[in-house]
Amino acid sequence: ADQSKIRNFSIIAHIDHGKSTLADRILELTETVADRDMQDQLLDSMELERERGITIKSQAVRVYFDADDGETYMFHLIDTPGHVDFTYEVSRSLQACEGALLVVDASQGVEAQTLANTYLAVDAGLEIIPCLNKIDLPGAEPERVGAEVADLLGEDADSILRISGKTGEGVEAVLNQLVKTVPAPGGDRDAPARALIFDSEFDQYRGVVAYIRVVDGVFKKGDKITAMAAGTEADVDELGIFSPQMVPINELGPGEVGYVITGIKDVMLLRVGDTITHRAQVRGQGEKLVPAQEPLPGYREIKPMVFCGLFPTDNAQYPDMRDALEKLSLNDAALAWEPETSDALGFGFRIGFLGLLHMDIVRERLEREYDLDLIATMPSVGFELELHDGTIQEIHSPSAYPDPTFIKEVREPYVKIHILTPTEYVGTTMELCQDKRGEHQGMQYISADRVQLTYDVPLGEIVLDFFDQLKSRTRGYASLDYEPIGLRASDLVKLDILLSGEPVDALSLLVHRTKAQEMGKKFTEKLKEKIPRQMFDVPIQAAIGGRILARETVKAYRKDVTAKLYGGDISRKRKLLEKQKAGKKRMKQVGRVEVPQEAFLAVLELG
Ligand code: GTP
Repeated sequence: ADQSKIRNFSIIAHIDHGKSTLADRILELTETVADRDMQDQLLDSMELERERGITIKSQAVRVYFDADDGETYMFHLIDTPGHVDFTYEVSRSLQACEGALLVVDASQGVEAQTLANTYLAVDAGLEIIPCLNKIDLPGAEPERVGAEVADLLGEDADSILRISGKTGEGVEAVLNQLVKTVPAPGGDRDAPARALIFDSEFDQYRGVVAYIRVVDGVFKKGDKITAMAAGTEADVDELGIFSPQMVPINELGPGEVGYVITGIKDVMLLRVGDTITHRAQVRGQGEKLVPAQEPLPGYREIKPMVFCGLFPTDNAQYPDMRDALEKLSLNDAALAWEPETSDALGFGFRIGFLGLLHMDIVRERLEREYDLDLIATMPSVGFELELHDGTIQEIHSPSAYPDPTFIKEVREPYVKIHILTPTEYVGTTMELCQDKRGEHQGMQYISADRVQLTYDVPLGEIVLDFFDQLKSRTRGYASLDYEPIGLRASDLVKLDILLSGEPVDALSLLVHRTKAQEMGKKFTEKLKEKIPRQMFDVPIQAAIGGRILARETVKAYRKDVTAKLYGGDISRKRKLLEKQKAGKKRMKQVGRVEVPQEAFLAVLELG
């Protein structure tokens, strides 16, 4: 391909600002997809993605565009995930580009992820083309939003393009602008080959499909390659492009974006961020190939940040669950898991996720695609413990917390959060952040009526219900973005919950000492609502060590209530039984007590 006629770009946007719709229009306009094949939001391939309307995996499509200058350009449109959990994937996708279309909903304005993605794009050195989208909407305010965007980028508001992904208005102008301002990719065809893996995906039949952006050199079918960080060696069985379906081609040269298939079956071996190069070899008619010395910059191990226990309600499903996790891991290098045994819940797994959204998605897939019935325990973060004997211990579950007399220091992960909110909600938002042990870092006006607040907050305070509370306090107007900033020492204690006098490991949690009392009280009250009446009284207690902080009691059924269960006509009785059976699905026998799924997540509702 003529390198000077290649343009590689991403579309970046806050969630729902219209990224996928614009991508669809671009495919249509460049006639990559015939109208009759045009499915809404073609780029979101997974069923779940479509249902939730979010983009998880990035994709990369090649299209050809006849520009106003009379030339035909090869575009690679690289889709990026839009959610905070996937920041690293976003940054790798952007690394594969020279430009970014920054899409801002003209009826909404700049949001937290607009900023976060813009910063990532600036960091990656991309040429940014801002577009005000949805100008067809009666509620669009291109003047106001244009000023916000101009402010953000330090550009002239008049030069910002106004488009509608829905009607297609202005989309061609965007592409012509792209041709003009986004530079052609650099890279040396004769240098040792290097390509960035910016995404990878597992295909049941073909193994790992690695999405690559070639930087230097040329890759061909049959080449012997190596992934530099993982040390993986493989042969190229096939390489090709997305059009948008996979089309094999003979070679991929500098600036080109496509895929390689090697027969490798594990995404861990061809990880996002790794660099592919050649092994020393002779190709074709005596062409000598040598490995590159330096990998491309920016490779990072992705570490799970949020953990929860998942247990099959029926212990017989345990082996199926292991199979399911093995299969999911083939496609998801960020997923971490290990077996966990709980006195209360039996055999299950402790699973690590990038964030809350990732957790939701995995759980839903396990239940839906693998037909498992799961009980989830409260999400928690990973803690680091320093013991008096000098050992450092990482724990991912409150139930693994050792005897506190051995502990010298507990460290918990912190995140920097950026919240964008209309000025009228600044007070209540700051209150929330302080309540979550946040440390104020700054406040910045994005426009006359919108403010960005920055706080350092323990991640553990965010995973519970921070986002929901923020939304409700700001009537849904605030948006949030966060990034990890490492561990800090904290005064944490383990709060135990006892049912009928027995500690229930799956209900324990680590809380800040100053919050233990209040938390214990609220938690026992909440559990009282969630745990149904049994044949006997069930005391619920919260304790630190042996010290009881709070107590509630679920009273036994009264006699006449039980009597009713067995009286009445047949159909009524059957109905009751069926209802009970349905309810049972998510019940777990803990000692003598029947505990429903909601109880294990009750702390999420404390607020
Ligand atoms: P995520 O994948 O969740 O990040 O969302 P997205 O940014 O890809 O947004 P998407 O394209 O799914 O659009 C969100 C909603 O806005 C959908 O209901 C679209 O139909 C609608 N929408 C997108 N572009 C336009 C537009 O130009 N005008 C109007 N009126 N609606 C639009």
